[in-house]
Amino acid sequence: MQYTWDDIEQHVAVCMHCPLSQTRHRPVMGRGCHQADLMLIAEAPGGQEDQQGLPFVGRSGEILDRLLQDCGLNRNDVYITNIVKCHPPGNRDPKEEKEACLPYLKYETFLLKPRIIVCLGRVAAQRIISSDFKITRQHGAWTHRKNCALTATYHPSAILRDPSKYEIAKEDFCRIVKKREEYM
Ligand code: URA
Ligand code: SF4
Repeated sequence: MQYTWDDIEQHVAVCMHCPLSQTRHRPVMGRGCHQADLMLIAEAPGGQEDQQGLPFVGRSGEILDRLLQDCGLNRNDVYITNIVKCHPPGNRDPKEEKEACLPYLKYETFLLKPRIIVCLGRVAAQRIISSDFKITRQHGAWTHRKNCALTATYHPSAILRDPSKYEIAKEDFCRIVKKREEYM
């Protein structure tokens, strides 16, 4: 049987597959355009996202919107999701929960069939691209897998901590947009 977007969302909404279900307020399913060829994968919902049940609604969401806008995109052009759908307490890195949550990401990827995947930050890049991925050295580099090109750049919250990373992430995003145009 093939799941639909609604099926996945309904499973995520009541999921108890890992301990984050005990502390989360609301699970955060991915959001955006279901026809997008660009998929952004971040790490885990933060505190604001946990309250609202939506991805990137806090301060890092503002940075992400600026990055997209500076490269001529907005949220309706992309699909945004996280490695884990529930907020880790105190914003710690997700641990084994990544494996528990991975089936949802796999279904999202299967339904979306993105041409380009952008990992936002180390946690996503190390889980999706390679376990020794170093954002500082490898951001903006491309890996190809089947019909999909994968890359990574700084997480918006890293930009909040160090605003000098904004321009670097913007250059990465603008190159991603160029690559996307080549595919269209
Ligand atoms: N940080 C993330 O990694 N994901 C969100 O959805 C929000 C903040
Ligand atoms: Fe389920 Fe993922 Fe939330 Fe864990 S993080 S409870 S696996 S939705």
